[in-house]
Amino acid sequence: MSLRHPIRIVPSLLAADPLHLAKQVRALEEAGADALHVDVMDGHFVPNLSGGLALVQALARFVRCPLDVHLMITDPDRHAERFAQAGAAVVVTHLETAWRDLADVRRAGAQFGIALNPATPVDAVRDHLPGVDRVVVMSVEPGLSGQKFMPEVLPKVEALRDWGFEGDIEIDGGIDRDTIGPAARAGANVFVSGSGILESDSWSDAIRELREIALGSAEEAARAGDGL
Ligand code: DX5
Ligand code: ZN
Repeated sequence: MSLRHPIRIVPSLLAADPLHLAKQVRALEEAGADALHVDVMDGHFVPNLSGGLALVQALARFVRCPLDVHLMITDPDRHAERFAQAGAAVVVTHLETAWRDLADVRRAGAQFGIALNPATPVDAVRDHLPGVDRVVVMSVEPGLSGQKFMPEVLPKVEALRDWGFEGDIEIDGGIDRDTIGPAARAGANVFVSGSGILESDSWSDAIRELREIALGSAEEAARAGDGL
């Protein structure tokens, strides 16, 4: 059965070993990653610091699969376009920041996404949907890898699909073999997983298993939706 929104499994490099990043990036690509997720934190929008333009530029020269850049920074208007120019396939900024106009991201050739913190109601993004390629529903508080999945955010995913949003819906935080099924059933199709993949013994087995569960759950939901 062909799904309306293709399933993508996207390891988060936040859980990688910075001293062995190139080797681990290649291994994740060989293990079947559909894209790689880079978390950029400014120590202000979130307490932590990570990533940056130089890292994304270097990765963009090296990777074979698309790079998704998740900006957890207070002032995305100042920086987002440069991440797109650096070679990101998707640049995601947070709705909770004071962003005004991020059309530059698309003009620079990247897709544009908006992320919602767990406490942000989904209604807040509704007016912006026509200009957005992807909505990221955070299923942990942004800032750290290895936190526990918050199932209470899944109704936001359902609402976006109920409203007819046809772009990608990404779920970020705490995705593993137990949580990916409910997320896929709710309507998410892009799954970020840091510790769920990188802390497993076999990255290729972990990615294959996540993909199988997501596909099975999405197909089940599609059949139920068709009344079959
Ligand atoms: C959290 C980041 C996530 C994080 C996910 O702020 O946005 O991308 O790396 O890591 P896990 O999958 O370990 O929750
Ligand atoms: Zn992220």
